[in-house]
Amino acid sequence: MTIAWNPGTREWHLGNARASWVLGVLDNGWVGLLHAGAPLAIGPSYRHLGPHDFTGFDNRTGEPVALALPSPGVGDFRVPALVVEGPDGSTVLDPQYAGHRITAGKPKLPGLLPATYVEDDAEADTLEIDLCDGPSGVTVTLALTLFRDQPVVARSMRVANGGSGRVVVRTAMSATLDLPDDDWRLVTLSGTWARERYPDDRALVPGRQGVSSVRGGSGNEHNPFLALRRPATTEAWGECWGIALAWSGNFLAEAEVGHFGTTRVRVGVNPEHFAWPLEPGESFATPEALLAWSDAGVGGMSDALHGLLRHRMARGAWRDRPRPVLLNNWEGTYFDFDHDRIVVMARAAKAMGMELFVLDDGWFGRRDDDNRSLGDWVVNERKLPHGIDGLAREVKALGLLFGLWIEPEMVNPDSDLFRAHPDWAIGVPGRKRTLSRNQLVLDFANPAVVDHIADAIGEVIASAPIDYVKWDWNRFITEPFSPTLPPDRQGEFFHRYTLGMYDLYERLTTRFPHVLFESCASGGARFDAGILAWAPQGWTSDDTDAVERLRIQWGTSLAYPLSSMGAHVSAVPNHQTGRVASLDFRAAVAMFGAFGYELDPTAMSDGDRAAVRRQVAFYTERRDLFQYGRFARLRSPFEGDGNETAWMVSADDGSRAVVAHYRVLFRPWPVYDRLLVRGLDPAARYAVTCWERFDAPMPTIERGGDELMSVGLGIEPPDPMPDGAFADGHRIVRGDFTARLFDLRRL
Ligand code: GLA
Repeated sequence: MTIAWNPGTREWHLGNARASWVLGVLDNGWVGLLHAGAPLAIGPSYRHLGPHDFTGFDNRTGEPVALALPSPGVGDFRVPALVVEGPDGSTVLDPQYAGHRITAGKPKLPGLLPATYVEDDAEADTLEIDLCDGPSGVTVTLALTLFRDQPVVARSMRVANGGSGRVVVRTAMSATLDLPDDDWRLVTLSGTWARERYPDDRALVPGRQGVSSVRGGSGNEHNPFLALRRPATTEAWGECWGIALAWSGNFLAEAEVGHFGTTRVRVGVNPEHFAWPLEPGESFATPEALLAWSDAGVGGMSDALHGLLRHRMARGAWRDRPRPVLLNNWEGTYFDFDHDRIVVMARAAKAMGMELFVLDDGWFGRRDDDNRSLGDWVVNERKLPHGIDGLAREVKALGLLFGLWIEPEMVNPDSDLFRAHPDWAIGVPGRKRTLSRNQLVLDFANPAVVDHIADAIGEVIASAPIDYVKWDWNRFITEPFSPTLPPDRQGEFFHRYTLGMYDLYERLTTRFPHVLFESCASGGARFDAGILAWAPQGWTSDDTDAVERLRIQWGTSLAYPLSSMGAHVSAVPNHQTGRVASLDFRAAVAMFGAFGYELDPTAMSDGDRAAVRRQVAFYTERRDLFQYGRFARLRSPFEGDGNETAWMVSADDGSRAVVAHYRVLFRPWPVYDRLLVRGLDPAARYAVTCWERFDAPMPTIERGGDELMSVGLGIEPPDPMPDGAFADGHRIVRGDFTARLFDLRRL
């Protein structure tokens, strides 16, 4: 049992070998958080870690109290988890313990909220604590699930109106976490289009700090994730918290340091632009947050989240299946293609060993640029005279899978859909609508719109043998409003939009369970834990430059597994940066993800095509490691001058690994350098083969797991370097943008 209740001390202990959460009913009826983090023995009381007595607010006892459900107006002046406006207009809330249940497994969240799940009740236990505010009748059920094998708690909350008048939920956080000190650094993933999810790492300061979105989506700018690490914590050692929110809409992720040096973290739906009225008997359910704790460094935290997101958030037929190596035509052709050109590209892709051809934007309506036709999901017969069906069949006859791009939530003003239903585009009657990329967002808070798009897109997918869908979302929401909601319910708009989007995902994945969905939003603007429930992989960024990708993929990996990160090799000069890096370097970066190409293979030389064939063979031979192995970050592109990056994947049992070392610029006579490897069996011997190019590996050498992990793998001079076997020009890799991949196999 991972959850124990002690009726004598009125404490719950959620504990496994890797983490403990201890909660207790306080003397005043509140539920306190006595401890969260390091595993503690189950049995003893930990009441001394919380307040002895909390009978009222005063300057000494008021602030340090660690609560499971902080609420406003009753003496805790820090940010609350829940704000509900009562029938009298007051927001005072005094949530008193009213009962609890402990169940094996994990109950489903209400509605379509994405959440982790178990396949066997033995995988987790769930504690549900009921709290009630007497005067208003507001009742709250906090749900905490501890996974048996992971130091991770999934937390969510249901708020119900048990009173007799209408109340309005104004803030409902998925999780708060009260920590007893402020000796942490806050890490968020921030950036912008083509520069997503750079880790921002700063010391906590008194007051509130954090990230959020009011864009209607999680966004390229900030990610619904935060980490706290001790100042001395490294990638491999020390305490680290990571909190990921399973929600693809507006969010808030922040920390508040109180004046006694405590830290309160809260993560959930952004209270900004949110208000959810509840009539008597109605309830509201928050999305789920995953709270991972590790003493094995930032890497240990990432590893815990990766495992759950990969296997217990992602769902469906493609969850554990090898993801196909794809060719996407976007950077190869943009809008300029027709049936014959696509078939020629697909034939070249097949010849190079690729497995899936993806037809991107431009196949429908009158779409030759981004000015028109979003919403008109009928094939452009001028470009594709044999239809999607004819094209898909011809591509599939080559022995490839076939995939298609869609952007179902959008409409161009120049489209038949908009002309027929102008009121289906989001906007406020009487106000202008702001265009972005010449398009408007459809009102997915309106179920009729979702119905229409489900039919239209469903018809497209059903009309042809489609194996993969890239679902894009290329602008944020402005003028938020839905004519289907009354004035006093417009505060539900953003939330209902996201639920409508999830509804469409649910319908399409249910109707087409064999299809692999990849999410995309101007690159990585909807890269979050929630979307993985339907789309197990996402387009990480529109920036395909390999040097830029080192940083983007490094940052993304703080929370998200490699199997979720679409990573493509594109042409040079790179379309986003103008940089010219070698083909093997570009591939060596993209292999750490769901691998593919995004270029015109017919424009490549024979030599490059042969190189791609070798790259694809190298990847597919190790695909289980690249997609489902344990990822460890070894050397950060954000440290020093950023000239080097190293990371690795390893099998759970340490039997195999691939270690990658990348160097951006060459500098003559580099200093001696060894790279400490992780995740191996220290007692085993390994065959180590270094690939500097994918045409010929260096001779295999033998090293011990202990040596590789504690002394390191030679980078300068390179190891393997059999004595005198190499001419100087071969063993010292000159030139910029170089990568070495080391293949490690246990002997
Ligand atoms: C977005 C995506 C790209 C591509 C284009 C098509 O920018 O991120 O990958 O699909 O849209 O318009």
